[in-house]
Amino acid sequence: MSNTNGPVPTERAKYGAAAVAHLTGELPNPFPRIMGPNAMKYLREIVDSGLSVDMLSRFESAFAEAYGVKHCIATPGCTPALAVLGAAFGFEPGDEVIVSPVTDYGTLMGLLVENYIPVFADTEPGTVNVSAATIEPRITDRTRAILVVHKTGLICDMDPINRLAQERGLIVYEDVCQAVFGEYKGQLAGTLSKAAGFSFDSEKTMGSDVGGCIITDDDDLAGQARFLGHSRGARQMPGFGRIHTARGYAHRMPQCTAAISLAQLEIIRPNVAHRDKMARLLLDLIGQIPGLTPLPIPDYVNVYSCWMIGFSIDPTAFRCTADEFGEQLAEEGIPGAGTGRYYLMPEALTFLREKAEAKAYPFSTPPASREFSYGADTCPNAHAFLENFVRWATFCEKYAPEHCELAAEIIRRVAERNRDRS
Ligand SMILES: Cc1ncc(COP(=O)(O)O)c(C=O)c1O
Repeated sequence: MSNTNGPVPTERAKYGAAAVAHLTGELPNPFPRIMGPNAMKYLREIVDSGLSVDMLSRFESAFAEAYGVKHCIATPGCTPALAVLGAAFGFEPGDEVIVSPVTDYGTLMGLLVENYIPVFADTEPGTVNVSAATIEPRITDRTRAILVVHKTGLICDMDPINRLAQERGLIVYEDVCQAVFGEYKGQLAGTLSKAAGFSFDSEKTMGSDVGGCIITDDDDLAGQARFLGHSRGARQMPGFGRIHTARGYAHRMPQCTAAISLAQLEIIRPNVAHRDKMARLLLDLIGQIPGLTPLPIPDYVNVYSCWMIGFSIDPTAFRCTADEFGEQLAEEGIPGAGTGRYYLMPEALTFLREKAEAKAYPFSTPPASREFSYGADTCPNAHAFLENFVRWATFCEKYAPEHCELAAEIIRRVAERNRDRS
């Protein structure tokens, strides 16, 4: 049965610090965030110069250099970054983009505004990520691209995905919101495909406020992204001024966010290295508790830029549900612990389901070539996984080994209290 058939929701959803900063417990909260020591210096430069320094370009150059890529286009978040990329690819309405089902709305928005059709590939059983094997059956003659999400910071197995895409003539791009500076076989996530979108939202690993960016090595794509994302689709016409030849966006990263992002970039590598170490320690401790399976870290992830800790509970081992397990963890001191069923986009985007059912544009034929339906049952692996998945996104760079031990101790206590001994 669909989880979205519950009571009518009334409370507006919260994001960023508003969703996280108030959470308390025995373990650290990422807020107040640890700020790069130069944050105030860079902010003051903006004010002292009367807004005339180009902090945006400074951040873009520094981020591109850190990633070893030719282009960085900074945006006010990953949602706009992926929207700009979606527009820059220039597919036709009704074209299909295969996308991870376990993600945030921000992954999807850019597809929807372009009237592309999101096609959710299922996840690999027992994980949060898609694979070449789950993507392949969703490819049709209307598929144009594959948008992968490295959920929780665990990187998708990109070599087989890229091989498949190459065989079928498809573009691959990445949502790296949860995996900043994570590494796959020694290569940075975000450099594993044609282009990538990042988030520097305040609660993310490189928390900077509402910010993000695109990176790519492709000169034409970068030019188009800058034209559509920063220049509002306008060019300078001699003797006239700006003429808008395309429907562009005003998606420049604000200067003050660029200042904070630049300062956060200066401290991100040790932050990520520390998260990798603490996540591996904590997941190992969780794995020692009978009935719990920590998120598996594939061998090819040699830097786990962990944004969120998660594990599955074996429902036959406990008398409680995963929701009750999560609630008890939160009560015992793990801030924000709970289930994450709402990550299942084919279920959470109820408007998409309604549009597809009504065959409303772009689900009309044309521009679509076939019928689409959305719901939990379209991605059974992802749905089954999220039913028993418990996680918390307050895991952060403030964790020391004693916090990992305390978290594992709390989880063990809750597990023992609820263990089915019948
Ligand atoms: C996987 C993923 N994609 C996209 C987004 C959207 O990013 P932003 O909030 O920067 O627009 C988020 C943020 O929660 C995310 O976690």
